[in-house]
Amino acid sequence: MAFKIKNATSFTFLFFFFLLHHVSMTKQEGTSTTGGYWVQLQRSIGISAMHMQVMYDNKVVIFDRTDFGPSNISLSHHRCRFNPRDLALKLDCTAHSVLYDIVSNTVRPLTLRSDAWCSSGALAPDGTLFQTGGFNDGYTKLRTFTPCPTHNTCDWKEIPYTNLTTSRWYASNQILPDGRIIVVGGRNSFTYEFVPKNNSSFHFLPFLKLTRDPDRGEENNLYPFLHLLPDGNLFIFANRNSILFDYTKNKVLRNYPVIPGEEKRNYPSTASSVLLPLNLTGLINGTRLPHAEVMICGGAYPPAFRLANKLRLFMEAARTCGRLRVTDADPQWVMEVMPMPRVMPDMLLLPTGNVMILNGAMNGTAGWENAANPVLYPLLYRPGSARRFQLLAPASTPRLYHSSAVLLPDGRVLVGGSNPHRVYDFRAKPYRTELSLDAYYPDYLGVQFQTLRPSIVAVNDTPSYGTLFAVTFSLREYRGGGVGVTLVAPSFTTHSFAMNQRLLWLHVVALQEVAQFGYRVLARGPPSLAVAPPGYYMLFVLHAGIPSPSVWVHLI
Ligand SMILES: *[C@@H]1O[C@H](CO)[C@@H](O)[C@H](O)[C@H]1NC(C)=O
Ligand SMILES: *[C@@H]1O[C@H](CO)[C@@H](O)[C@H](O)[C@H]1NC(C)=O
Ligand SMILES: *[C@@H]1O[C@H](CO)[C@@H](O)[C@H](O)[C@H]1NC(C)=O
Ligand SMILES: *[C@@H]1O[C@H](CO)[C@@H](O)[C@H](O)[C@H]1NC(C)=O
Ligand SMILES: *[C@@H]1O[C@H](CO)[C@@H](O)[C@H](O)[C@H]1NC(C)=O
Ligand SMILES: *[C@@H]1O[C@H](CO)[C@@H](O)[C@H](O)[C@H]1NC(C)=O
Ligand SMILES: *[C@@H]1O[C@H](CO)[C@@H](O)[C@H](O)[C@H]1NC(C)=O
Repeated sequence: MAFKIKNATSFTFLFFFFLLHHVSMTKQEGTSTTGGYWVQLQRSIGISAMHMQVMYDNKVVIFDRTDFGPSNISLSHHRCRFNPRDLALKLDCTAHSVLYDIVSNTVRPLTLRSDAWCSSGALAPDGTLFQTGGFNDGYTKLRTFTPCPTHNTCDWKEIPYTNLTTSRWYASNQILPDGRIIVVGGRNSFTYEFVPKNNSSFHFLPFLKLTRDPDRGEENNLYPFLHLLPDGNLFIFANRNSILFDYTKNKVLRNYPVIPGEEKRNYPSTASSVLLPLNLTGLINGTRLPHAEVMICGGAYPPAFRLANKLRLFMEAARTCGRLRVTDADPQWVMEVMPMPRVMPDMLLLPTGNVMILNGAMNGTAGWENAANPVLYPLLYRPGSARRFQLLAPASTPRLYHSSAVLLPDGRVLVGGSNPHRVYDFRAKPYRTELSLDAYYPDYLGVQFQTLRPSIVAVNDTPSYGTLFAVTFSLREYRGGGVGVTLVAPSFTTHSFAMNQRLLWLHVVALQEVAQFGYRVLARGPPSLAVAPPGYYMLFVLHAGIPSPSVWVHLI
């Protein structure tokens, strides 16, 4: 049996050679504008997937709104919810949340007791979903959902004695290095607080007020974009402005340059934002921190919201993306132009480190009936390549306001929702309330890559901070190039923002052939809790640009 230990640096080079090689092959085959394909998983899951969170037991918590009227799925055991404050249906025996089982492609209704509309969420280090706020009777609610892989009977819990300090409607969340979750903003809430709740303290953050556009309903700074940076501080973007924020001292450390252009980037001029992959290659034990770069795409020009809302005139959306190296001493926005305009895009990090831009519309803004011209073509954005944007295979379902998308552990992208109406309207034209669930299969899942696709056999040691761990995988056709290991944090996606999404390229130390078709890669765990906040991650092994299906690892 051959036994090889190789040095990672030469691998990295070869790895990128194969990535490039793969891209040029794809082009020759004429598939570069038709990458991947779509499959409808469910015609109706009963509700519209406004909020989605993938859990470590391979289920997806999905919910929309209790004030929407009757959904298309009943609560189990003839349970009903009577709520005199409900705006649409006081006695409601239908569900507004479901648990989607990825493997069996089935749903189970869940019970929301109060309205979680336009709310936020994050996974705690133990994998429990903390959902914060909502509307009406749900403004200050804190709810949890703890996975139950063995009995599958778990449901939402509302924590009665720990209300949020203020209403959190259109707030954003981020998991922190110490395992707490910060909840930032919300409509008319210029503060932040932490969950799980310990006391009733909150902190004023003037940035949230200063970035609000004055016209009633305009705002353009809701659902602020939050990204935890490798030094433990928080990047916050709202409207066109951004800051580096020390939430432990309630102190703004830096004001970044205003993003160029007139385009507004937050609700209702909704854009999306990602923290581009953090590359831990060559950074030993956290003595140097990785660079961090944020990318924001789409949005709307003023006065798009007013025109859409008042006159039903739909202005063309923003076409631009901006990238900012937020850890640089003097960072400047680098602007790029997408092949088409897009408001309400979703941006997801794929296990390859590329960004998928999907969903949304070419005209209008977020909000009821405010958009037209759905964009069915997703884009693939390759951060490290010269020809960065690639058109992907078009979807067949418009996904407008109140749609969402998440990366699945098997490398597919789950897409659902769209309800630009005040209540459920399953027959509305041209954009009905969408109850369907689609899966996008990226190019890398194609059968032509089957022999190149690694398959993880075991994660030999529990990955931990700064220590080496081994992953054993099988592979039919080793191409001699390098192998990559990525960790991807599952996002809480709503309103075009995948909160807590994060991708780390781990430092690969060695690759060994341990059997025929059997390999072991040795990688170093992330250097710190700020680089990788505690919790569950999807671990992918990549070979020749093709990712394995992931396995869950628990970083604590
Ligand atoms: C509601 O769900 C049923 C299946 O339970 C399905 O046959 C029907 O098409 C759904 N209605 C809509 C409007 O999607
Ligand atoms: C939490 O809020 C609900 C109303 O939403 C109220 O009935 C309850 O008394 C509050 N609990 C506390 C501890 O303040
Ligand atoms: C809550 O606060 C107390 C001090 O008042 C502290 O000892 C404890 O660690 C805190 N717990 C959490 C979960 O933050
Ligand atoms: C309350 O929580 C805040 C934020 O977590 C913390 O700074 C403060 O020390 C806590 N106070 C008490 C009395 O626990
Ligand atoms: C990560 O950094 C290493 C060392 O600088 C570089 O060789 C490699 O190309 C980078 N990988 C990615 C995916 O950017
Ligand atoms: C990194 O950490 C490992 C053990 O965790 C230690 O053996 C090694 O000496 C450290 N390297 C540096 C450069 O600090
Ligand atoms: C979208 O915007 C373009 C450019 O302003 C305009 O020509 C088109 O009519 C708009 N589409 C709709 C449906 O309003």
